[in-house]
Amino acid sequence: MSIAIAPFVFTSASVELLAPTAQNPICGAYPENLVVRDYDFDATLIDTLALPSADVSTKTHLISLPNYTFSCAHSSLLKGLPKDVTGLVSLSRYNLSLPNQISSALSVPNTFAVCFPGSFKSTGVAFFGSTGPYYALFENSKIDLSKSLIYTPLIVNPDGIGDTVISYSDDPPSYEYFVNLTSVRINGQNVPINVSLLNIDHENFLGIGGTKFSSNTPYSLLERSIYKAFTKLFIKEASLSRFNLTRTSPVKPFSVCYAARLVKVTSIGPDVPTVDLELGGKKGVVWRIVGANSIVRVKNKKNNLDLWCLGFVDNGVNKKTSIVIGAKQLEENLMQFDIESNKLGFTSLLTSHSLKCSNFNVTDFA
Ligand SMILES: *[C@@H]1O[C@H](CO)[C@@H](O)[C@H](O)[C@H]1NC(C)=O
Ligand SMILES: *[C@@H]1O[C@H](CO)[C@@H](O)[C@H](O)[C@H]1NC(C)=O
Ligand SMILES: *[C@@H]1O[C@H](CO)[C@@H](O)[C@H](O)[C@H]1NC(C)=O
Ligand SMILES: *[C@@H]1O[C@H](CO)[C@@H](O)[C@H](O)[C@H]1NC(C)=O
Ligand SMILES: *[C@@H]1O[C@H](CO)[C@@H](O)[C@H](O)[C@H]1NC(C)=O
Ligand SMILES: *[C@@H]1O[C@H](CO)[C@@H](O)[C@H](O)[C@H]1NC(C)=O
Repeated sequence: MSIAIAPFVFTSASVELLAPTAQNPICGAYPENLVVRDYDFDATLIDTLALPSADVSTKTHLISLPNYTFSCAHSSLLKGLPKDVTGLVSLSRYNLSLPNQISSALSVPNTFAVCFPGSFKSTGVAFFGSTGPYYALFENSKIDLSKSLIYTPLIVNPDGIGDTVISYSDDPPSYEYFVNLTSVRINGQNVPINVSLLNIDHENFLGIGGTKFSSNTPYSLLERSIYKAFTKLFIKEASLSRFNLTRTSPVKPFSVCYAARLVKVTSIGPDVPTVDLELGGKKGVVWRIVGANSIVRVKNKKNNLDLWCLGFVDNGVNKKTSIVIGAKQLEENLMQFDIESNKLGFTSLLTSHSLKCSNFNVTDFA
């Protein structure tokens, strides 16, 4: 059995529950909006959550999760989120996240898969409680994309402080998903990176360094020295005759932009140097980022601005995590977070397989 939600607009949040005490007999929670880094204190409630089944072999039906733990939140906590969003769901490792509550209520695998659409006009999908199959429709046939996943281990950062807006005194491990990024290549060339930034440093229980995913961060964030080396190499490779790109004045938050008229656009986005993230596990586990996921269109009719900008942002120095892989880089990829086996499966850009998240045609189950 598996559960699918589509169309899918994604945000992530963490919720920390407070146990009732003699002084404070109400069960409360601190729901967080990590996009604007704000939080609220509100009541928790237990109710039934009903979600559509994604089992293609059965008729549409809802699966009920009785005794599901929710947190109330004031509507002001929705600021910074797209309009029409009415709530936040946590997909984290926390035991009250949606995948964890589904897994324990239904005794199904603690796994979820998500595919974020590349635009508001398109749809995405999320599957819970199943390691597959994940069917997409392609030219009137059904293909199982769980068979196309490439796997890398997920790493638990032992130190969660700083990942949530509120810091909790019991010092839990991080509820976020880290991977062991070992090197970055641009157009096949190695970006020189200080290796100590790529490892998680457990000294002083701060968990500094490493690479994590964050769907609530619009563009990947790179520690300053990594950002400098990364953009320097990108500019060099893009200037080669194969791309023949010369920079123009950038627009914040970006620092590398090209006039749109210079950039050739293909079915996998702007034709620019590829970015390869080499990940832990078997040798050769590579997350390839092509133009559709690396380059952002910046347009402003008023001043005739039309640019393609490198969608990575300088995160300064002394931030907890060296590399935060953001939403732009995750679009139109199928990602499976297997919390039980601590591994991440990914497809890289689905368009390279002539597919999109909207090919997971599960709207008829909703
Ligand atoms: C929900 O929780 C109540 C109170 O703990 C319990 O009596 C009930 O059996 C639970 N229902 C289900 C379906 O687990
Ligand atoms: C969830 O985790 C908290 C803290 O890690 C723990 O105290 C609590 O018992 C867990 N709840 C369940 C339902 O496993
Ligand atoms: C990450 O990969 C490096 C290089 O292969 C290895 O030395 C290190 O132990 C790995 N770290 C983890 C946490 O797996
Ligand atoms: C590498 O980074 C570590 C941690 O930030 C720092 O202590 C060290 O000096 C850096 N090494 C080089 C060669 O820059
Ligand atoms: C490279 O681009 C410049 C304009 O930016 C153009 O003048 C030149 O002809 C191009 N060279 C090649 C080899 O396409
Ligand atoms: C998705 O399913 C709906 C309902 O079954 C159907 O009308 C629609 O054409 C399908 N879309 C695609 C892309 O196959």
